[in-house]
Amino acid sequence: MKMAALALLFVASNAMAHVPSLENFETKPILADLKDLRALNIPVLAKDESVEVGYAIVTPLMQQRIQERAHSVGKCGGFEDLSTDVMLQSNGFDKMLNEMAKIKEKNDLYERAPFKILSLEKNAGIEAALSEVSENNLRSYVQWLSAFPNRYNRDSQPNKHVVEMKQRLEAMLSNATIPYEISEITHSSTQQNSLRVRLVGSARPNEIIVLGGHLDSINQSWGGGKAAPGADDNASGSANLIEALRILMNKTQPERTVEFFWYAGEESGLLGSAEIAKQYKAEKKDVVAVLQLDMTLFPGSGELVIGSMTDFTSAWLRDYLKAMNDTYLHARIVDDKCGYGCSDHASWNRQGYAALMPFEATFRASNQKIHTANDIISPDSNFKHSAVYTKIALVMAMDLANSQARQPY
Ligand code: BES
Ligand code: ZN
Repeated sequence: MKMAALALLFVASNAMAHVPSLENFETKPILADLKDLRALNIPVLAKDESVEVGYAIVTPLMQQRIQERAHSVGKCGGFEDLSTDVMLQSNGFDKMLNEMAKIKEKNDLYERAPFKILSLEKNAGIEAALSEVSENNLRSYVQWLSAFPNRYNRDSQPNKHVVEMKQRLEAMLSNATIPYEISEITHSSTQQNSLRVRLVGSARPNEIIVLGGHLDSINQSWGGGKAAPGADDNASGSANLIEALRILMNKTQPERTVEFFWYAGEESGLLGSAEIAKQYKAEKKDVVAVLQLDMTLFPGSGELVIGSMTDFTSAWLRDYLKAMNDTYLHARIVDDKCGYGCSDHASWNRQGYAALMPFEATFRASNQKIHTANDIISPDSNFKHSAVYTKIALVMAMDLANSQARQPY
């Protein structure tokens, strides 16, 4: 629905302006489901059968067809826009597909390994921290973030909420008892900035646990104006991270470094996270695990039913989620797929890092009001459900960041 509306918007806005916008007639390099590309007879320039992904250069009409098809099978975007990706350079796509095959190989190896049984021993400190998660705090963070007219990266003031968020985090962190660093990260692909808070590790500071979500929002509905409250997508995940940080800042310093990210421009193609993950890889940073929180407020598959996305994620971390669930969360975990790189975890995964994406529901049962002016706090919003995702972040920061565990190869 959302994407079909977007495609219509293309046409409508051109007609209204009488002068077709150049941007809308440009071809785009994309990655899409191989089945979709084949079904639509779109020439596939490179492909990886094992992960069922193909690379193609598509015209606006082809983009519209892919989006319509994706929508008819319940997907949101249907493809990944690679226009800004450095992979456009010569051999870039071969390298990328190679990288994806390597990641699949790692996951397959792990799936076949006999030593994968993971269990977490209950820790009183972690249990105490989990009991500090406040649904009221989550509600007030989401209320505040969704009250901005939008948090769109192409807005005339794309950093209004980023600046205010940084001020709020600084105010909160003034009570921190563990060392931290906060910074605004600028990007070349968008005017919007990402935010990062680092809790520097006491014993192994070079080993990093990333806890992130996108702070931006978008309105893609036809004639829907610019209002993009983005309460579920993704004030909710952003709020989960603020709440986790509030609790962690007065606990024992973790052995590994824990980095919180609120990414820019996710809705325009994973822009902020793509630059950050690429930079980290170039600097050979040892990111042990990446948590992506994107949409945690709408319990479409039932309260405390978590969708664990199996594409662009690590089999090891998905097992880790199940183990932490048995010990601490007592929710239900259901494996599902986006079918494309639907959020920032894909940026990290593409650089070879292990990622996890616990999602509000199964893909199909997720909130249908995202990307519209109606993505607001409503009677459907469930802060008890959302609180579980803060707990996932806390366990990663208090268990994984104090262990030697990493993706076994
Ligand atoms: N939160 C969504 C992703 C999502 C939507 C996941 C519905 C599962 C169900 C995210 O912010 C988003 O909208 N992503 C884009 C893709 C991105 C590459 C621009 C999308 O899904 O269209
Ligand atoms: Zn979205």
